[in-house]
Amino acid sequence: MEILVLGSGAGGGFPQWNCNCPNCSNYRKGVGKFTARTQSSIAISCNGEDWLLFNTSPDMLQQISQNPEMQPRDRGVRDTPIRAILYIDSQLDHTTGLLMLREGCPHVVYSTEMAHQDLTEGFPIFELLKSWNGGINHRTLGVDGEAFEIPELPGLRLRVWDVDGKAPPYSPHRFDQHRGDNIAVQIEDIESGGKLFYAPGLNSVDDRLKAIMRDSDCLMVDGTFWTNDEMQRFGLGTKMAADMGHLPQTGKDGMIEVLAEFETQRKVLIHINNSNPILNEESPERAELDSLDIEVAYDGMKVSL
Ligand code: MLT
Ligand code: MN
Ligand code: ZN
Repeated sequence: MEILVLGSGAGGGFPQWNCNCPNCSNYRKGVGKFTARTQSSIAISCNGEDWLLFNTSPDMLQQISQNPEMQPRDRGVRDTPIRAILYIDSQLDHTTGLLMLREGCPHVVYSTEMAHQDLTEGFPIFELLKSWNGGINHRTLGVDGEAFEIPELPGLRLRVWDVDGKAPPYSPHRFDQHRGDNIAVQIEDIESGGKLFYAPGLNSVDDRLKAIMRDSDCLMVDGTFWTNDEMQRFGLGTKMAADMGHLPQTGKDGMIEVLAEFETQRKVLIHINNSNPILNEESPERAELDSLDIEVAYDGMKVSL
């Protein structure tokens, strides 16, 4: 299967439109080595023709125009290779772009019950899209790791687990964690046997998740923050990474320590916040990741498994 990174940035993307953190302002000044990033999404295909889209970022239309794989084929006057959409959670940076895809309704959409609640109540896009050709055809994801297949995408086998994370800031249950607010997904190519572990929002990694990661070939995981106090450090906010549901790379039990346990897996950080020093390709933090064989996802990155 082919994994195409459509958007590797966290909420706001990089550079963020109103941000003067060192990265965003240095990018604009041309100081340091940076690459712009759109907001968090990947797509997966077994045959290069039919794609499963993970999340619909606010940058969806830009991502479609930057990636011919996502553009219409010659099958009719209206066409798309996007066969189904699967939501990792109900964050704005993961969902808003569904509004931009309204002309293609009804879409096949997978999400957990908790994300469905947010997307019909707190941010009711599933409800309002009903006025566009019926809106969405929703299918509920279980969170116990049971294998399932998507009829529109033969050749893929998926498993979903709830992870420690946070419902979005707008969610009625932001401070009342439920199973399924955030998930990790393992996507397997049935023919090649290749398995991707995808978890762009992750607050901690327990033994249950580690076993699933060990059983995967590539780990594409939360790369939001370098330090727990990153938002405070740059005067961007008051919250710690942990308050926002993101495990920082550094510190005890941080993502670098977690990933050190996995020797054979390819390791890729994704959903990178614009404040994260690893975005500067000439930074010591980026050199440290390089020395540990931890990659930093970029828009347009392709992984074959
Ligand atoms: C997050 O990743 O924590 C969210 O995208 C935050 C937000 O929605 O602003
Ligand atoms: Mn986010
Ligand atoms: Zn910034």
